[in-house]
Amino acid sequence: MPSRRQELPYEETVQETHPTFDPDLERSANEAILAQTARAVWLYGLSGSGKTTLAVGLAERLRAEKRVVRILDGDGVRLGLNRDLGFSDADREENIRRVAEVAKLFVDSGVIVISSFITPRNRLRAMAREIIGAQDFIEVYLECSYETCLRRDVKGLYARAEAGLVKDFTGRDSSFEPPLAPPDLAIDTETQDVQSSLTALHDFVRPRIARPPAR
Ligand code: ADX
Repeated sequence: MPSRRQELPYEETVQETHPTFDPDLERSANEAILAQTARAVWLYGLSGSGKTTLAVGLAERLRAEKRVVRILDGDGVRLGLNRDLGFSDADREENIRRVAEVAKLFVDSGVIVISSFITPRNRLRAMAREIIGAQDFIEVYLECSYETCLRRDVKGLYARAEAGLVKDFTGRDSSFEPPLAPPDLAIDTETQDVQSSLTALHDFVRPRIARPPAR
């Protein structure tokens, strides 16, 4: 007597043994466990405009509220996943394409992502938004002039760039485009202190990652 499985056509057997994977179901199941709504907060601006400081500060505040968060940062990603990339236009585009895909994987896992990349062109911001999905993308521009970043020079990179030692340096040899269309949030990190900037960012993000009440 043949088993039931042997009687089934091949496609049905495959469906029975390998149930289809539904990323939407996986995401909502994880969001329910984590009691949060996953989003990608995309911080962009010149090197030294405060991206990493605000990413770390926001992650701390959200974790204190029991949110599960992952930071993706330019300096970190460029040591591993994107260590084959430099700062030409094509490499920056590939950098942003890959990190947007990674951010999407986290969002699809129910995790809140805070990305901090210079993302110097409008085209690159539009690409990240498209890959991640407009409904999950929170675009935050950190507004700070080249002169102020140069004066602060947290990493000593501006001094090296001014001495001609850094190829394709953003804002000097390679352009940074201010946003064409208004971002979801713009923070003036030129004049505002870190705590005020952080509070503005946190206040903006908090209601957007809350879990909607169960229906
Ligand atoms: S992006 O333009 O592709 O978005 P990303 O945010 O990943 O850049 O990396 C920027 C970081 O790389 C800076 O914070 C800085 O520490 C480092 N860096 C090294 N060389 C450059 C350069 N030529 N231009 C800008 N940043 C550079």
